[in-house]
Amino acid sequence: MVAIVVDGKTIEAEEGANLLQVCLENGIYIPNLCFLKEMEHPTGSCRMCLVEIDGEDKPVTSCMRRVQDGMVVRTDTEQVRHLQRIDFQLLMSAHHMDCKNCLSNKHCELKKIAKHLGVRLKATKFEELGRDLAVLKHPLFDLLPARCILCRKCLFICQQANGEPLLRLVRKGYESVIEAACEGQDPEELPCKFCMACVKGCPVSAIVPYSTYELEKSA
Ligand code: SF4
Ligand code: SF4
Ligand code: FES
Repeated sequence: MVAIVVDGKTIEAEEGANLLQVCLENGIYIPNLCFLKEMEHPTGSCRMCLVEIDGEDKPVTSCMRRVQDGMVVRTDTEQVRHLQRIDFQLLMSAHHMDCKNCLSNKHCELKKIAKHLGVRLKATKFEELGRDLAVLKHPLFDLLPARCILCRKCLFICQQANGEPLLRLVRKGYESVIEAACEGQDPEELPCKFCMACVKGCPVSAIVPYSTYELEKSA
């Protein structure tokens, strides 16, 4: 075990442990949207988990850092908050908010982050992109690309659960969407194991159970 200091608090942790995970386990909340503790190589795609580390000239994503003995970390500096607020507002400018119809409404990670950062949920600084992206169909669920925040968690979860990625990221920038790699195939021939792990793991309910197929099968 080694000792690090986060926001003035001394924490003991395994050398090489994931810095974000160590902070979360020790009651220090750092906003995060694309990280799962099972990830050996986090993607760092949301940029919400920024922190300052002594000796480094700019904030870094804590999910991509490993604990080192003597590390001194600050999670709430002016620069960290400034960058997090910009990143969050940019992300929200591309997120179709439809809270009353959203399964995440009662445990919404975006609302938690907005509150933590002291910003409004809906972007005011950036123009809303209003991505007009069609719902994608899978026999068991609908993918709602306009709600998707492109955190890529579902890709990892699917790979973990099935040993191969049955979802994929296609297109670029704000046109990017997650789609089922098996889209259009006969349901009986899909490699999908129907585990629904991606549905459970999506932080914004952009993958929504589509019960018709189950009902049809059980009829
Ligand atoms: S994830 Fe759902 S509940 Fe949260 S802000 Fe978006 S639409 Fe609203
Ligand atoms: S569908 Fe959900 S889990 Fe997958 S990238 Fe979009 S927001 Fe993330
Ligand atoms: S949680 Fe670290 S970049 Fe998303």
